[in-house]
Amino acid sequence: TQRTLVLIKPDGVRRGLIGEIVGRIERKADWRITAMELRTFDRETLELHYAEHAGKDFYGPLVEFMASGPSVAMIVEGARVIPGVRALAGATDPIAAAPGSIRGDYGVEVRENLIHASDSEESAEREVKIFFPGLV
Ligand code: GTP
Ligand code: MG
Repeated sequence: TQRTLVLIKPDGVRRGLIGEIVGRIERKADWRITAMELRTFDRETLELHYAEHAGKDFYGPLVEFMASGPSVAMIVEGARVIPGVRALAGATDPIAAAPGSIRGDYGVEVRENLIHASDSEESAEREVKIFFPGLV
């Protein structure tokens, strides 16, 4: 079993898509949400989260966007949940994301692409510590 860190980004919260996104995750057999918080995350937290992109042209605007309002952070546990939520999310660019995926169904912009999901076990453990520092 795996765990992954999922964010419903500020655009998803603003557009009223929390229930839709959480519903798609919950409907998967065996997957469980084991932690959840709605909060406007501070820049330090978001800069840590997106450290791999520091220096890229989209990094500054990305952090600004992510700090622009509340996101939902959650830990999801279950069988193959790391690649599984990435598949539910779809490709980073919503125009390239498959219809039926969250980004494919609701997104248009590369930056405001609704959801984040950890891309590996190493990323998941790193990101869980950033967003849920109180958890082991
Ligand atoms: P996350 O699950 O959010 O990490 O997305 P990802 O893994 O599909 O993409 P990546 O880690 O490469 O980029 C992180 C985030 O930066 C993306 O989800 C987008 O919000 C944003 N982003 C990535 N590439 C671009 C880009 O070329 N232009 C812009 N404006 N934003 C980008
Ligand atoms: Mg990523």
